[in-house]
Amino acid sequence: MSGDIQVPIPVNEPVRMYAPGTPERTALKAKLKEMASQEIEIPLLIGGKEVRTGRTAKNVMPHKHGHTLATCHWAGQTEIDAAIKAAQEARKEWSLWPWEERASVLLRAAELLATTWRDTLNAATMLGQSKTAHQAEIDAACELIDFYRFNVHFAERLYQDQPLSAPGMWNRLEYRELEGFVYAITPFNFTSIAGNLPTSPALMGNTVVWKPGRTTIFSGYYIAKLLEAAGMPPGVINFVPGDSGQITDMVLASPEFAGVHFTGSTPVFQSFWRTIGENIHKYRSYPRIVGETGGKDFIVAHASADADALVTAIVRGAFEYQGQKCSAASRAYIPDTLWTKMKDRLLSEVESIQMGDTTDFRNFMGAVIDEKAFKKITSYVDNARNSSDADVLVGGESDGSEGYFIRPTILQAKRPDYVTMCEEIFGPVLTVYVYPENQWAETLELVDNTSPYALTGAVFATDRRAVTEAHAALRHAAGNFYVNDKPTGAVVGQQPFGGSRASGTNDKAGSGLNLVRWVSARTLKELFVPPTDYRYPYMGAE
Ligand code: SIN
Repeated sequence: MSGDIQVPIPVNEPVRMYAPGTPERTALKAKLKEMASQEIEIPLLIGGKEVRTGRTAKNVMPHKHGHTLATCHWAGQTEIDAAIKAAQEARKEWSLWPWEERASVLLRAAELLATTWRDTLNAATMLGQSKTAHQAEIDAACELIDFYRFNVHFAERLYQDQPLSAPGMWNRLEYRELEGFVYAITPFNFTSIAGNLPTSPALMGNTVVWKPGRTTIFSGYYIAKLLEAAGMPPGVINFVPGDSGQITDMVLASPEFAGVHFTGSTPVFQSFWRTIGENIHKYRSYPRIVGETGGKDFIVAHASADADALVTAIVRGAFEYQGQKCSAASRAYIPDTLWTKMKDRLLSEVESIQMGDTTDFRNFMGAVIDEKAFKKITSYVDNARNSSDADVLVGGESDGSEGYFIRPTILQAKRPDYVTMCEEIFGPVLTVYVYPENQWAETLELVDNTSPYALTGAVFATDRRAVTEAHAALRHAAGNFYVNDKPTGAVVGQQPFGGSRASGTNDKAGSGLNLVRWVSARTLKELFVPPTDYRYPYMGAE
């Protein structure tokens, strides 16, 4: 605890635009070319050592799945065990470092990422996750830089939060790391989340076993190397690609398991919770369970909404990054009067979207992440095509021959409980339900009750009373609630991100609320001059 330490005040990393003719565009294109021309081998990183098992899996480009980017070594029982041991060993020293020394590793990582590593992480994300230059920039560069700089600032505030001391004594809170190791399981859709889930517990003195997403070991590896270049000591974060079930079973069976930091699907998260419950008697402490999972994110428009703003929010909110953001809009409720005014413009905007290889900067969308996602998303569209309860208004075409491409699709549901209004699809499919204008209050109720999730949502209205009504009716329907803005694009330090209900534990990534989950406070009370007589004054003779 060093109360007099002042970390640099964070500011959000400016977003580079990559417009034609700019040096940043030239540099990024050169890096894309270089990385696409190589096929790298990715080892596990355990206790600072590279480990090659010979059991491998491939990472490919989703928009050109015949092109392999990396051959990745896969952990087995021996390596998982070694990673758990390496984390425990590293904790002995790392947890005792002054917190500002740990912070400086992340501040250096942020600085490297803002400068010499920026193109590498952006290009890895564009090639391996099929993000456009803009989507990669706001994720792999800006958001990850922000996570590192802002988390340090939030940690400083947390450490400074100290109790009062009555005269003659000194009370302190010591923010210890958790007693054990933390398991970080990261998703494919955000490089920044992959970079944040292992490092936010590490900043607070924990050591980590990190299982990167199966399809994104490529960008994950570069994050691990960035952290190494920033001075992260060996064993603090152990990079362990492998079979999710096997790693999870071994990690959750360890008595030293102290917490899980997860982003992924709701069923997987719930299965972790069940296993942790079954193993609870084995653990040294009650593990911290922190997870951000699914969503069925909504846009609800009032009759007073600005139609053009609504159209733009729908296009960006539903289709950027192919609808694969946890926050992506996937159901919209629009009053009949407004729908008549905006439908044609919305459909023609969606028709105009260019999709393809993300190294072609004219594209607004790339491919979905893999074949499994491609099949799942297209099955929803095919079912809608054959259903009397829904119409395909635009899109619906798909082609998986070279890359996993699905055109941005808008369905119109005739019933508000049609399956695509309720279930998470995680792809470029938005379903619209057109409601009678005079049923605003009933529609807000529908929005609230239609899905088990509560991640993001947006209301569009110019009538302030309608906004106030939506605030109240949808109070628990979204952890990130937007007024006259799309429900995606949360910025660290500005809109802390996370949802409740089936969407997760709402421990807001990129905020002090998250960091507090990774410490176990010890209260210290010290008397300067302790009493030497057990008798209290009231006991004196009259
Ligand atoms: C996400 O975590 O999926 C997205 C964050 C955002 O777009 O606001």
